[in-house]
Amino acid sequence: MTTVSTEFVQLTADEFRTRLREALAIYVEAMRYPPGTAEQRAPMWLTHALREGWRCIGAFDSHGTMVGIAYGYKGNPGQWWHEQVRRGLVKSTGEEHAEHWLRDYFELTEIHVSPRSQGGGIGEELLRRLLTGVTNDHVLLSTPEGPSRAWKLYRRVGFLDVLREYHFAGDPRPFAILGRRLPLEPPA
Ligand SMILES: CC(C)(COP(=O)(O)OP(=O)(O)OC[C@H]1O[C@@H](n2cnc3c(N)ncnc32)[C@H](O)[C@@H]1OP(=O)(O)O)[C@@H](O)C(=O)NCCC(=O)NCCS
Repeated sequence: MTTVSTEFVQLTADEFRTRLREALAIYVEAMRYPPGTAEQRAPMWLTHALREGWRCIGAFDSHGTMVGIAYGYKGNPGQWWHEQVRRGLVKSTGEEHAEHWLRDYFELTEIHVSPRSQGGGIGEELLRRLLTGVTNDHVLLSTPEGPSRAWKLYRRVGFLDVLREYHFAGDPRPFAILGRRLPLEPPA
């Protein structure tokens, strides 16, 4: 499937709640997590939808089935991810660098495309639509280290290394924190 036959819709928090199971199913399949992960994640995703600046884009096929989901919100002190990233940045590159990135940013929290729909540009379109109109200075995200389609996408749209090989509390996998200034340039 390509973007040609795909509809992209900005979802309200109510619409997101209604379609939460569908969105989580895509997440679990795309990330190859065990099925129980969806139930664990549901309360967190619902809490995220209440945060300042929360925005969400869904991608739907011609039958109205969700094939992709992306959301994020304004990052703020006190949030778990913000504090983890601050700790890592201060330790590795100092307070000033941390302040530069964390002063005013949009956290791109989740972006996933159903495996059968990957490779056709849906991910990039989700990312671009999610960030269109975001007024924060920067966008930040975390992604597991290692070559992946996600990495290719982030590099293609200009994400830079902010922190590499970082370990979030409670997760043995190394992560990269990537970021860039907003707004994005139009596609090449
Ligand atoms: C990361 C992810 C969201 C990217 O979505 P995607 O739709 O597969 O990716 P893209 O939009 O980048 O498009 C993929 C390919 O389609 C190509 N493409 C772009 N526009 C196209 C079009 N109109 N028609 C055909 N192909 C197109 C791109 O060149 C790209 O090729 P490449 O990956 O070989 O470089 C998706 O692969 C995914 O869900 N991965 C697993 C979950 C994950 O890692 N999520 C991120 C966690 S941090």
